[in-house]
Amino acid sequence: MTKALVAEAEQAAAPTSAATLAGVTLRPGRPEDAAPCGRICYSAFKTLSEYHRFPPDFPSPETATQLLSWLLAHPKFYSVVAEVDGKVVGSNFLDERGTIAGVGPITIDPSTQNQSIGRQLMLNVLDRAGKLNSPGVRLVQATYHSRSLCLYSKLGFVVQELLATMQGQALGFRIPGHKVRKATKGDLEACNRLCLQVHGHERGEELIDGISQGSATVVEHEERITGYATSIGFFGHAVGQTNEDLKALIGAAKQFAGPGFLLPTRNSELFRWCLEHGLRVVQPMTLMNLGLYNEPRGIFLPSVLF
Ligand SMILES: CC(C)(COP(=O)(O)OP(=O)(O)OC[C@H]1O[C@@H](n2cnc3c(N)ncnc32)[C@H](O)[C@@H]1OP(=O)(O)O)[C@@H](O)C(=O)NCCC(=O)NCCS
Repeated sequence: MTKALVAEAEQAAAPTSAATLAGVTLRPGRPEDAAPCGRICYSAFKTLSEYHRFPPDFPSPETATQLLSWLLAHPKFYSVVAEVDGKVVGSNFLDERGTIAGVGPITIDPSTQNQSIGRQLMLNVLDRAGKLNSPGVRLVQATYHSRSLCLYSKLGFVVQELLATMQGQALGFRIPGHKVRKATKGDLEACNRLCLQVHGHERGEELIDGISQGSATVVEHEERITGYATSIGFFGHAVGQTNEDLKALIGAAKQFAGPGFLLPTRNSELFRWCLEHGLRVVQPMTLMNLGLYNEPRGIFLPSVLF
């Protein structure tokens, strides 16, 4: 992301809402923030989902705390926490593992929402991305949430892709001629090459995380790696040369981690294939970006952070 784009986002900094909460301070996240930020993350998403009658993103405060503990401890995630009178009221993160930085999860305590804290936390991570000279920033937005859609759009984010969160029973389905196996570090080079072809940049650090967590898989066709997934789930991404590669990876997944995996609905062939195999749409999501965005040249599933 160019510095000009950060400046543009900052110029849009003056909030238009009447209420701006006074006394908000921002500071870097610390490991002990996991519990209060995890509770807020859980309740912010739960309140929102219940209001719109969608299932909650996190099944319990503990699962949200577990995720935030991991993010707060990860050297390649930047974190920022908002406080009012010394009390934690929200947090935001920047995934710095790849060329393109990923924003989120951003959550504000439901009792202090819509008072410009989210805007301040967004500007903080955009400022960080500017300092890192990130050519672009991405996020995945809950399509039905008008507030986050408006906030991100006002800060300059652009809608790139409509996604469907897909969930259901593991398919246990094989695609002839497409062998799926666990990914190893020896596959990194081939996977990075594929990602470069599809997205114009590599995402090797995310793949290393997926390999060490045991969730990453590759698909081989005619003795070549033609696709990979860090996991088939909310926090994993996948790329492939053809829809058959993605079908093989999805078909071999033992489960779809978190609320489900994110499928670009523009890929109507793959979307229809998932529906025909019994998967259900949990909720719509929107991929948005600021700065550089390469139109994908291949098949892909984005992760919620990126
Ligand atoms: C989304 C979230 C982080 C935003 O933080 P926030 O502190 O509530 O939002 P802010 O007050 O900073 O900004 C909201 C902006 O949207 C605008 N807005 C809200 N609803 C709007 C609508 N229906 N139409 C037009 N504008 C709207 C507000 O006027 C405000 O604009 P401004 O900054 O120019 O005044 C917070 O509401 C939250 O935690 N939500 C639940 C979890 C969530 O959805 N996280 C994001 C996942 S993508």
